[in-house]
Amino acid sequence: MKYDFDKVYDRKSTFSSKWNVEEVFGRDDVLPLWVADMDFRVPEPVMVAIRERMEHPIFGYTAVSPGFYDSVIQRLDAKFGWKIEKEWIVITPGVMPAVNAAVLALTQPGDRVVLQSPVYPPFWTAITHNKRELAVNPLRLSGNRYEIDFEDFRAKFERDGARAFILCSPHNPGGRVWTREELMAMGETVIGAGGVVISDEIHCELIMKGYSHIPFASLSEEFAMNSVTCFSPSKTFNIPGFHVSVAIIPNQQLRERFNEARGRLMGAPGIFGLIAAEAAFKHGDDWLGQVLEYIEANVDYAVEFLTKHVPEIKPMRPEATYLIWLDCRGLGLEQEELRRFFIEEARVGLNDGATFGPEGTGFMRLNVGCPRAILEEALARIEKAVKARRGR
Ligand SMILES: Cc1ncc(COP(=O)(O)O)c(C=O)c1O
Repeated sequence: MKYDFDKVYDRKSTFSSKWNVEEVFGRDDVLPLWVADMDFRVPEPVMVAIRERMEHPIFGYTAVSPGFYDSVIQRLDAKFGWKIEKEWIVITPGVMPAVNAAVLALTQPGDRVVLQSPVYPPFWTAITHNKRELAVNPLRLSGNRYEIDFEDFRAKFERDGARAFILCSPHNPGGRVWTREELMAMGETVIGAGGVVISDEIHCELIMKGYSHIPFASLSEEFAMNSVTCFSPSKTFNIPGFHVSVAIIPNQQLRERFNEARGRLMGAPGIFGLIAAEAAFKHGDDWLGQVLEYIEANVDYAVEFLTKHVPEIKPMRPEATYLIWLDCRGLGLEQEELRRFFIEEARVGLNDGATFGPEGTGFMRLNVGCPRAILEEALARIEKAVKARRGR
Protein backbone atom coordinates (compact mmCIF):
# COMPACT_ATOMS: atom_id res chain seq x y z
CA MET A 1 0.00 0.00 0.00
CA LYS A 2 1.03 3.61 -0.48
CA TYR A 3 1.61 5.46 2.79
CA ASP A 4 0.94 9.16 3.22
CA PHE A 5 3.79 10.51 5.34
CA ASP A 6 2.65 14.09 4.73
CA LYS A 7 -0.29 13.49 7.05
CA VAL A 8 0.03 15.44 10.30
CA TYR A 9 -1.33 13.55 13.31
CA ASP A 10 -2.30 15.12 16.63
CA ARG A 11 0.23 13.44 18.92
CA LYS A 12 -0.18 15.73 21.92
CA SER A 13 -3.43 14.02 22.84
CA THR A 14 -1.61 10.68 23.08
CA PHE A 15 0.88 11.97 25.68
CA SER A 16 3.74 11.61 23.23
CA SER A 17 7.06 12.45 24.96
CA LYS A 18 8.16 14.36 21.90
CA TRP A 19 5.09 16.59 21.86
CA ASN A 20 5.05 17.18 25.63
CA VAL A 21 6.66 20.53 24.85
CA GLU A 22 5.39 22.58 27.76
CA GLU A 23 7.10 20.32 30.24
CA VAL A 24 10.26 19.80 28.19
CA PHE A 25 10.83 23.29 26.77
CA GLY A 26 8.71 25.41 29.12
CA ARG A 27 6.36 26.75 26.48
CA ASP A 28 3.49 25.37 24.44
CA ASP A 29 4.30 27.06 21.12
CA VAL A 30 7.52 25.12 20.51
CA LEU A 31 7.55 22.81 17.47
CA PRO A 32 9.25 19.57 18.59
CA LEU A 33 11.94 18.02 16.39
CA TRP A 34 14.01 16.40 19.11
CA VAL A 35 13.70 12.93 20.70
CA ALA A 36 14.26 10.07 18.24
CA ASP A 37 10.82 8.95 17.21
CA MET A 38 8.97 9.80 14.02
CA ASP A 39 5.63 11.53 13.50
CA PHE A 40 4.64 8.81 11.03
CA ARG A 41 2.08 6.04 11.32
CA VAL A 42 3.44 2.52 11.63
CA PRO A 43 3.29 -0.18 8.91
CA GLU A 44 -0.23 -1.49 8.34
CA PRO A 45 0.78 -5.13 9.11
CA VAL A 46 1.71 -3.96 12.62
CA MET A 47 -1.75 -2.45 13.10
CA VAL A 48 -3.39 -5.65 11.81
CA ALA A 49 -1.37 -7.90 14.13
CA ILE A 50 -2.08 -5.74 17.19
CA ARG A 51 -5.79 -5.54 16.43
CA GLU A 52 -5.99 -9.28 15.97
CA ARG A 53 -4.37 -9.98 19.35
CA MET A 54 -6.57 -7.37 21.03
CA GLU A 55 -9.62 -9.40 20.11
CA HIS A 56 -8.56 -12.05 22.61
CA PRO A 57 -9.61 -10.56 25.94
CA ILE A 58 -6.95 -12.01 28.22
CA PHE A 59 -3.58 -10.29 28.62
CA GLY A 60 -1.60 -12.46 31.01
CA TYR A 61 2.16 -13.03 31.08
CA THR A 62 3.47 -14.02 27.71
CA ALA A 63 6.03 -16.50 26.49
CA VAL A 64 8.11 -15.66 23.43
CA SER A 65 6.69 -17.29 20.31
CA PRO A 66 8.86 -19.26 17.87
CA GLY A 67 7.61 -16.80 15.23
CA PHE A 68 9.29 -13.92 17.04
CA TYR A 69 12.66 -15.69 17.16
CA ASP A 70 12.34 -16.66 13.49
CA SER A 71 11.59 -13.07 12.55
CA VAL A 72 14.82 -11.84 14.19
CA ILE A 73 16.94 -14.66 12.72
CA GLN A 74 15.53 -14.19 9.22
CA ARG A 75 15.82 -10.43 9.32
CA LEU A 76 19.49 -10.31 10.28
CA ASP A 77 20.28 -12.85 7.58
CA ALA A 78 18.21 -11.14 4.89
CA LYS A 79 19.43 -7.62 5.66
CA PHE A 80 23.06 -8.17 6.56
CA GLY A 81 23.88 -11.79 5.75
CA TRP A 82 24.48 -12.35 9.46
CA LYS A 83 23.52 -15.90 10.44
CA ILE A 84 22.61 -16.17 14.10
CA GLU A 85 21.22 -18.96 16.26
CA LYS A 86 18.10 -18.85 18.37
CA GLU A 87 20.05 -19.54 21.58
CA TRP A 88 22.05 -16.34 21.11
CA ILE A 89 18.95 -14.13 21.34
CA VAL A 90 18.00 -12.56 24.67
CA ILE A 91 14.84 -10.45 24.78
CA THR A 92 15.21 -7.06 26.45
CA PRO A 93 12.71 -4.24 27.10
CA GLY A 94 14.82 -1.67 25.22
CA VAL A 95 18.35 -1.13 24.03
CA MET A 96 19.49 1.07 26.89
CA PRO A 97 18.44 -1.44 29.56
CA ALA A 98 20.46 -4.00 27.57
CA VAL A 99 23.51 -1.73 27.35
CA ASN A 100 23.35 -1.14 31.10
CA ALA A 101 22.98 -4.86 31.81
CA ALA A 102 25.96 -5.58 29.53
CA VAL A 103 28.13 -3.02 31.34
CA LEU A 104 27.19 -4.58 34.69
CA ALA A 105 27.64 -8.15 33.50
CA LEU A 106 30.86 -7.82 31.54
CA THR A 107 32.90 -5.30 33.56
CA GLN A 108 33.75 -4.70 37.21
CA PRO A 109 33.24 -1.55 39.29
CA GLY A 110 36.11 0.83 38.55
CA ASP A 111 36.86 -0.66 35.10
CA ARG A 112 37.44 1.80 32.29
CA VAL A 113 34.77 1.74 29.59
CA VAL A 114 35.27 3.62 26.32
CA LEU A 115 32.76 5.71 24.38
CA GLN A 116 33.19 8.05 21.45
CA SER A 117 32.04 11.59 22.15
CA PRO A 118 29.75 13.17 21.10
CA VAL A 119 27.37 10.29 21.60
CA TYR A 120 23.81 9.43 22.68
CA PRO A 121 23.64 10.81 26.26
CA PRO A 122 22.55 7.61 28.09
CA PHE A 123 25.86 5.99 27.03
CA TRP A 124 27.59 8.28 29.53
CA THR A 125 25.36 7.32 32.42
CA ALA A 126 25.51 3.62 31.49
CA ILE A 127 29.15 3.94 32.56
CA THR A 128 29.02 6.44 35.43
CA HIS A 129 25.79 5.27 37.11
CA ASN A 130 27.16 1.75 37.15
CA LYS A 131 30.33 3.00 38.90
CA ARG A 132 32.66 2.35 35.97
CA GLU A 133 35.27 4.85 34.78
CA LEU A 134 34.63 6.89 31.67
CA ALA A 135 37.32 6.64 29.03
CA VAL A 136 36.43 9.12 26.30
CA ASN A 137 37.72 8.73 22.75
CA PRO A 138 36.62 12.02 21.14
CA LEU A 139 35.56 11.78 17.51
CA ARG A 140 37.46 14.09 15.18
CA LEU A 141 35.75 16.45 12.80
CA SER A 142 37.21 16.04 9.35
CA GLY A 143 35.49 18.67 7.25
CA ASN A 144 31.89 18.09 8.13
CA ARG A 145 32.16 14.42 9.07
CA TYR A 146 33.28 12.50 12.14
CA GLU A 147 36.31 10.25 12.03
CA ILE A 148 37.92 8.06 14.66
CA ASP A 149 41.13 9.07 16.40
CA PHE A 150 42.67 5.60 16.31
CA GLU A 151 45.84 6.56 18.11
CA ASP A 152 43.83 7.71 21.11
CA PHE A 153 41.47 4.73 20.80
CA ARG A 154 44.37 2.27 20.95
CA ALA A 155 45.88 4.11 23.90
CA LYS A 156 42.64 3.72 25.86
CA PHE A 157 42.98 -0.07 25.68
CA GLU A 158 46.70 -0.75 25.31
CA ARG A 159 48.02 1.95 27.64
CA ASP A 160 45.11 2.63 30.02
CA GLY A 161 43.72 -0.91 30.28
CA ALA A 162 40.08 -0.19 29.28
CA ARG A 163 37.89 -3.31 29.55
CA ALA A 164 34.96 -2.52 27.29
CA PHE A 165 33.78 -0.28 24.47
CA ILE A 166 30.22 0.92 23.87
CA LEU A 167 30.00 1.29 20.11
CA CYS A 168 27.23 3.36 18.53
CA SER A 169 26.79 1.89 15.06
CA PRO A 170 25.46 3.70 13.08
CA HIS A 171 26.48 6.70 15.09
CA ASN A 172 24.03 8.99 16.87
CA PRO A 173 24.32 12.02 16.60
CA GLY A 174 26.90 12.11 13.78
CA GLY A 175 25.02 9.78 11.42
CA ARG A 176 28.15 7.88 10.44
CA VAL A 177 27.85 4.36 9.05
CA TRP A 178 31.17 2.87 10.14
CA THR A 179 33.11 1.16 7.36
CA ARG A 180 34.41 -2.38 7.44
CA GLU A 181 37.95 -1.03 7.93
CA GLU A 182 36.92 1.18 10.85
CA LEU A 183 34.98 -1.63 12.52
CA MET A 184 37.82 -4.09 12.01
CA ALA A 185 40.38 -1.70 13.46
CA MET A 186 38.22 -0.94 16.51
CA GLY A 187 37.39 -4.60 17.09
CA GLU A 188 40.97 -5.79 16.79
CA THR A 189 42.11 -3.17 19.28
CA VAL A 190 39.43 -3.93 21.89
CA ILE A 191 39.49 -7.69 21.61
CA GLY A 192 43.27 -7.83 21.17
CA ALA A 193 43.51 -6.14 24.56
CA GLY A 194 41.11 -8.66 26.14
CA GLY A 195 38.09 -6.32 26.18
CA VAL A 196 34.51 -6.67 24.98
CA VAL A 197 32.39 -4.64 22.57
CA ILE A 198 28.83 -3.64 23.43
CA SER A 199 27.50 -2.71 20.02
CA ASP A 200 24.33 -0.59 19.93
CA GLU A 201 22.96 -1.08 16.42
CA ILE A 202 19.50 0.36 16.98
CA HIS A 203 19.73 2.62 13.88
CA CYS A 204 21.08 -0.11 11.58
CA GLU A 205 18.11 -0.24 9.23
CA LEU A 206 17.77 3.51 8.71
CA ILE A 207 20.53 3.73 6.13
CA MET A 208 20.77 6.33 3.39
CA LYS A 209 21.36 5.35 -0.25
CA GLY A 210 24.94 4.47 -1.03
CA TYR A 211 25.83 3.17 2.46
CA SER A 212 25.71 -0.31 4.01
CA HIS A 213 25.63 -1.24 7.65
CA ILE A 214 27.78 -4.14 8.80
CA PRO A 215 26.91 -5.79 12.14
CA PHE A 216 30.07 -5.71 14.24
CA ALA A 217 29.73 -9.32 15.35
CA SER A 218 29.33 -10.55 11.77
CA LEU A 219 32.90 -9.56 10.93
CA SER A 220 34.62 -12.54 12.57
CA GLU A 221 34.11 -15.43 14.95
CA GLU A 222 36.38 -13.68 17.43
CA PHE A 223 34.31 -10.48 17.29
CA ALA A 224 31.11 -12.51 17.72
CA MET A 225 32.50 -14.31 20.78
CA ASN A 226 33.54 -11.09 22.51
CA SER A 227 30.53 -8.87 21.92
CA VAL A 228 26.94 -8.12 22.75
CA THR A 229 24.88 -6.69 19.88
CA CYS A 230 21.77 -4.68 20.68
CA PHE A 231 19.20 -4.76 17.91
CA SER A 232 15.64 -3.53 17.84
CA PRO A 233 12.69 -2.77 15.55
CA SER A 234 11.90 0.37 17.53
CA LYS A 235 13.66 3.09 15.51
CA THR A 236 13.26 1.36 12.15
CA PHE A 237 9.51 0.90 12.41
CA ASN A 238 8.71 3.75 14.78
CA ILE A 239 7.54 1.55 17.65
CA PRO A 240 9.81 2.60 20.56
CA GLY A 241 6.78 2.91 22.83
CA PHE A 242 6.45 -0.89 22.76
CA HIS A 243 9.80 -1.37 24.50
CA VAL A 244 11.05 -4.47 22.79
CA SER A 245 14.58 -5.23 21.64
CA VAL A 246 17.04 -8.09 21.59
CA ALA A 247 20.60 -8.64 22.70
CA ILE A 248 22.50 -11.10 20.53
CA ILE A 249 25.24 -12.88 22.47
CA PRO A 250 26.93 -15.82 20.73
CA ASN A 251 29.29 -16.54 23.65
CA GLN A 252 27.49 -18.74 26.18
CA GLN A 253 29.50 -17.53 29.16
CA LEU A 254 28.88 -13.88 28.37
CA ARG A 255 25.23 -14.69 27.76
CA GLU A 256 24.86 -16.35 31.16
CA ARG A 257 26.42 -13.35 32.87
CA PHE A 258 24.21 -11.01 30.88
CA ASN A 259 21.11 -13.06 31.69
CA GLU A 260 21.89 -12.91 35.38
CA ALA A 261 22.00 -9.10 35.28
CA ARG A 262 18.94 -9.00 33.09
CA GLY A 263 16.99 -11.21 35.50
CA ARG A 264 17.79 -8.89 38.36
CA LEU A 265 16.99 -5.68 36.51
CA MET A 266 14.23 -6.32 34.02
CA GLY A 267 10.79 -7.82 33.75
CA ALA A 268 9.25 -10.06 31.13
CA PRO A 269 8.50 -8.63 27.67
CA GLY A 270 5.12 -7.11 26.87
CA ILE A 271 2.65 -8.96 24.67
CA PHE A 272 2.13 -6.19 22.17
CA GLY A 273 5.81 -5.38 21.74
CA LEU A 274 6.62 -8.90 20.65
CA ILE A 275 3.67 -9.00 18.29
CA ALA A 276 4.43 -5.60 16.76
CA ALA A 277 8.10 -6.50 16.32
CA GLU A 278 7.39 -9.79 14.62
CA ALA A 279 4.87 -8.23 12.23
CA ALA A 280 7.26 -5.37 11.43
CA PHE A 281 10.24 -7.63 10.81
CA LYS A 282 8.25 -10.02 8.65
CA HIS A 283 5.98 -7.64 6.75
CA GLY A 284 7.30 -4.10 7.25
CA ASP A 285 9.63 -3.73 4.28
CA ASP A 286 7.14 -2.11 1.94
CA TRP A 287 6.61 0.64 4.53
CA LEU A 288 10.33 0.87 5.32
CA GLY A 289 11.27 1.44 1.68
CA GLN A 290 8.75 4.27 1.45
CA VAL A 291 9.68 5.89 4.75
CA LEU A 292 13.40 5.85 3.91
CA GLU A 293 12.68 7.70 0.66
CA TYR A 294 10.65 10.26 2.57
CA ILE A 295 13.36 10.71 5.21
CA GLU A 296 16.10 11.08 2.61
CA ALA A 297 14.06 13.75 0.81
CA ASN A 298 13.62 15.56 4.15
CA VAL A 299 17.36 15.36 4.76
CA ASP A 300 18.01 16.84 1.30
CA TYR A 301 15.49 19.57 1.92
CA ALA A 302 16.89 20.53 5.34
CA VAL A 303 20.52 20.45 4.20
CA GLU A 304 19.77 22.57 1.12
CA PHE A 305 17.60 25.01 3.03
CA LEU A 306 20.14 25.64 5.77
CA THR A 307 23.08 25.83 3.38
CA LYS A 308 21.24 28.42 1.27
CA HIS A 309 19.38 30.47 3.85
CA VAL A 310 21.15 30.00 7.18
CA PRO A 311 24.87 29.61 6.50
CA GLU A 312 25.61 30.20 10.19
CA ILE A 313 24.27 26.65 10.79
CA LYS A 314 26.14 23.83 9.07
CA PRO A 315 24.23 20.54 8.85
CA MET A 316 26.19 17.31 8.93
CA ARG A 317 24.63 15.13 6.25
CA PRO A 318 23.74 11.81 7.91
CA GLU A 319 24.70 8.51 6.29
CA ALA A 320 22.08 6.87 8.53
CA THR A 321 19.22 7.88 10.87
CA TYR A 322 16.69 10.68 10.55
CA LEU A 323 18.79 12.87 12.84
CA ILE A 324 20.85 15.79 11.57
CA TRP A 325 23.69 17.15 13.68
CA LEU A 326 23.82 20.90 13.28
CA ASP A 327 27.05 22.80 13.77
CA CYS A 328 25.73 26.09 15.13
CA ARG A 329 29.06 27.58 16.11
CA GLY A 330 28.67 30.16 13.33
CA LEU A 331 25.92 31.80 15.41
CA GLY A 332 28.58 32.78 17.95
CA LEU A 333 26.45 31.90 20.99
CA GLU A 334 27.41 30.30 24.29
CA GLN A 335 25.69 26.93 24.75
CA GLU A 336 23.04 28.18 27.16
CA GLU A 337 22.29 31.11 24.85
CA LEU A 338 22.12 28.72 21.90
CA ARG A 339 19.66 26.47 23.69
CA ARG A 340 17.55 29.46 24.68
CA PHE A 341 17.77 30.89 21.16
CA PHE A 342 16.11 27.82 19.65
CA ILE A 343 13.39 27.66 22.28
CA GLU A 344 12.61 31.32 22.92
CA GLU A 345 13.42 32.96 19.59
CA ALA A 346 13.00 30.23 16.95
CA ARG A 347 10.42 28.29 19.02
CA VAL A 348 11.77 24.98 17.77
CA GLY A 349 12.54 22.13 20.16
CA LEU A 350 15.85 20.44 19.29
CA ASN A 351 18.30 18.33 21.35
CA ASP A 352 20.99 20.35 23.09
CA GLY A 353 24.31 19.22 21.59
CA ALA A 354 26.18 19.59 24.88
CA THR A 355 24.17 16.72 26.39
CA PHE A 356 26.03 14.41 23.96
CA GLY A 357 29.38 15.32 25.53
CA PRO A 358 31.79 18.27 25.53
CA GLU A 359 32.41 17.76 21.79
CA GLY A 360 28.74 18.61 21.25
CA THR A 361 29.17 22.16 22.49
CA GLY A 362 28.02 24.55 19.77
CA PHE A 363 25.84 21.84 18.19
CA MET A 364 22.14 20.95 18.21
CA ARG A 365 20.39 17.82 16.91
CA LEU A 366 17.44 18.07 14.51
CA ASN A 367 15.01 15.18 13.93
CA VAL A 368 13.60 15.19 10.39
CA GLY A 369 11.37 12.13 10.92
CA CYS A 370 8.28 14.27 10.47
CA PRO A 371 5.86 15.43 7.76
CA ARG A 372 7.47 17.89 5.36
CA ALA A 373 5.07 20.65 6.47
CA ILE A 374 6.42 20.44 10.05
CA LEU A 375 10.02 20.51 8.83
CA GLU A 376 9.31 23.48 6.56
CA GLU A 377 7.70 25.38 9.41
CA ALA A 378 10.61 24.61 11.76
CA LEU A 379 13.25 25.69 9.25
CA ALA A 380 11.33 28.86 8.41
CA ARG A 381 11.16 29.69 12.12
CA ILE A 382 14.91 29.14 12.47
CA GLU A 383 15.65 31.30 9.42
CA LYS A 384 13.44 34.10 10.72
CA ALA A 385 15.03 34.05 14.17
CA VAL A 386 18.57 34.03 12.75
CA LYS A 387 17.69 36.95 10.43
CA ALA A 388 16.31 38.92 13.38
CA ARG A 389 19.63 38.38 15.20
CA ARG A 390 21.66 39.42 12.17
CA GLY A 391 19.82 42.74 12.18
CA ARG A 392 20.83 43.49 15.77
C1 LIG B 1 21.90 5.03 19.86
C2 LIG B 1 20.64 4.79 20.63
N1 LIG B 1 20.57 3.78 21.50
C3 LIG B 1 19.47 3.53 22.23
C4 LIG B 1 18.36 4.34 22.11
C5 LIG B 1 17.17 4.07 22.97
O1 LIG B 1 16.76 2.77 22.84
P1 LIG B 1 15.64 2.16 23.79
O2 LIG B 1 14.48 3.09 23.78
O3 LIG B 1 15.35 0.84 23.14
O4 LIG B 1 16.27 2.01 25.13
C6 LIG B 1 18.37 5.41 21.21
C7 LIG B 1 17.21 6.29 21.10
O5 LIG B 1 17.26 7.36 20.57
C8 LIG B 1 19.54 5.64 20.46
O6 LIG B 1 19.62 6.65 19.59
